[in-house]
Amino acid sequence: MCGVMGYTGPKEAEQLLLDGLFALEYRGYDSAGIAVLDESAHIKMVKRLGKVQMLSDSLKKKPLHGTCGIAHTRWATHGVPSERNAHPFLDCSKRIVVAHNGIIENYADLKTELRAQGHVFTSDTDSEVVTHLVESMYDGSLVSTLRKVCMRLEGAWALVAMCSMEPGTIAVARKGSPLVVAPTPEGAFAASDLTALAPHTSDVIPLTDGQFATLSQDGTVTITTIDGTVVEPEPIHIDWDVSSATLGGYPDFMKKEISEQPQALSRLLASRVASGTVELDELSMDGAALLNINRIYIVACGTSYHAGLYAKKLIERWARIPVEVDVASEMLYDEVLADEHTLCLAITQSGETAETLLCSRKLRRMGAKVIAITNVLGSTVATEADGVIYLQSGPEVSVASTKAYTAMLVASALVALFLAHGRGLMGSGEIAQRLAELERVPAAVAEILDRQGLAKEAASVFEGATSSLFLGRGLNSASAREGALKLKEISYLHAEAYPSGEMKHGPIAVIDKGYPVVFVVPQDDVHAKTLSNMAEVLARGADVVAVASDGDAEVLPYAQHIMWLPPTAEWLTPITSAVYLQLMARYVALSRGCNVDRPRNLAKSVTTE
Ligand code: M6R
Repeated sequence: MCGVMGYTGPKEAEQLLLDGLFALEYRGYDSAGIAVLDESAHIKMVKRLGKVQMLSDSLKKKPLHGTCGIAHTRWATHGVPSERNAHPFLDCSKRIVVAHNGIIENYADLKTELRAQGHVFTSDTDSEVVTHLVESMYDGSLVSTLRKVCMRLEGAWALVAMCSMEPGTIAVARKGSPLVVAPTPEGAFAASDLTALAPHTSDVIPLTDGQFATLSQDGTVTITTIDGTVVEPEPIHIDWDVSSATLGGYPDFMKKEISEQPQALSRLLASRVASGTVELDELSMDGAALLNINRIYIVACGTSYHAGLYAKKLIERWARIPVEVDVASEMLYDEVLADEHTLCLAITQSGETAETLLCSRKLRRMGAKVIAITNVLGSTVATEADGVIYLQSGPEVSVASTKAYTAMLVASALVALFLAHGRGLMGSGEIAQRLAELERVPAAVAEILDRQGLAKEAASVFEGATSSLFLGRGLNSASAREGALKLKEISYLHAEAYPSGEMKHGPIAVIDKGYPVVFVVPQDDVHAKTLSNMAEVLARGADVVAVASDGDAEVLPYAQHIMWLPPTAEWLTPITSAVYLQLMARYVALSRGCNVDRPRNLAKSVTTE
């Protein structure tokens, strides 16, 4: 939610900041703003409602000149999306300016206190209190003041601040919201996410909670703790191709990211599979420790939670360890039964999802070993976990997760196989065979991309619909959920998912003539049962779409549209079927005139509870 950016150095700041905002726009896109310190150390600021492009268009007409500046792209929490509520915020004297990502939970009390001191607020946001607090507590050093201010704040923040009194200096602070900094020969940068810095450097420093940094015009960065102690920076090297965050000829990022799946999955497999074995040093525990795991908690939200549902079934099937999986926002407040024999798998594309982080911290405090499955290098989950399995999907810009989801499924399968082998439940021969099956998946996905016309045809059943049902059984009940979520989030069409067998216990009541129902029905051990469910909805006049195995004649009488799955092992059909469901959701969304990359009300990274 929200992206912040800061730059100080020898170059004009405006374009660098705008480019950064474009890269961060996936985090929020209801308004944007930029503030630059001009030659006479006056703060000049422009804010616009709408996407970063609106801001950029305004700046073309009236550019801001200066070599030190901060910027922000917003996803509204407190206060409607408007120019008035767009960041950054100036203090009363117009000498201090601050942009914020996160939530200031005690803002109401602080606002009352600051108003009593005579401060005048110009927005309805929680964030503006920070600017006025800095104004009220300024001690001659922006970073030192920011430390004192942060002691008064409750909530989460990535703050970037600058002031007229210290031209060329930017002070930043982090707690609970991501923030990376980078000293470079062309100046010093700060941003919510390393993708914004990728064009400028390959080495970035993710700040950890409670850290502050001073960015200086000579390109240096000094990192400190709350008591001012200087911290030795721990840079990480980015080896992502910068061009992977650009459209590269595709009409939208979702299409690009769906299309990248064969390469992304191959990359992940190549890094984890060698000579018929799974290499997961992150889980490196000797046999005794592996045998001692008596429970696994999978912590995740949204699409990542659906990957967790798949992981649970495979781990229980092969490694015979009981797995609990629930959305992190629930598990966070549940009684969990974790101890030192518990393994926690935190699945999160961004590595920054608030509940996933909070819940994995809770399990860790109880003694669990935490393994993160994430896509983002240096993300908070990655820095906090005992081990990290990177998805290696490359930047996922579209809000709807696609390539990261299928990579999560592959990573989950690798974990299940690793545990099964380590616990002596699957011999080397069977492991090698399963891995060979897995290694054929990228080609199967490529074949689906060649057949995407089938998804386009299937999308036509949603014409004029106001609601829809997605059904699947066994491993593919997670696929049904993911298909429904994908459709819902990008097309705004209501979609509900159920395990197929549960349909007759209530949802069947909504089915009527022309009601769209999507079945994920590969040839697996529950195939016949799902066919019966298809007959039940067909008898009630539904328009049925099926995702079925190539050559499955039995499914033909039950569906108007069929998206045919190339042959794979049955346990891999959730990966291939996901690709069809992603494509279909995109076609439906496009036909409804929706922006598939930036659906309304959503943000790519949800860093507040
Ligand atoms: O970054 P995470 O994987 O932790 O994000 C979790 C959810 O917010 C995310 O999967 C969300 O549901 C996506 N928009 C799905 O496409």
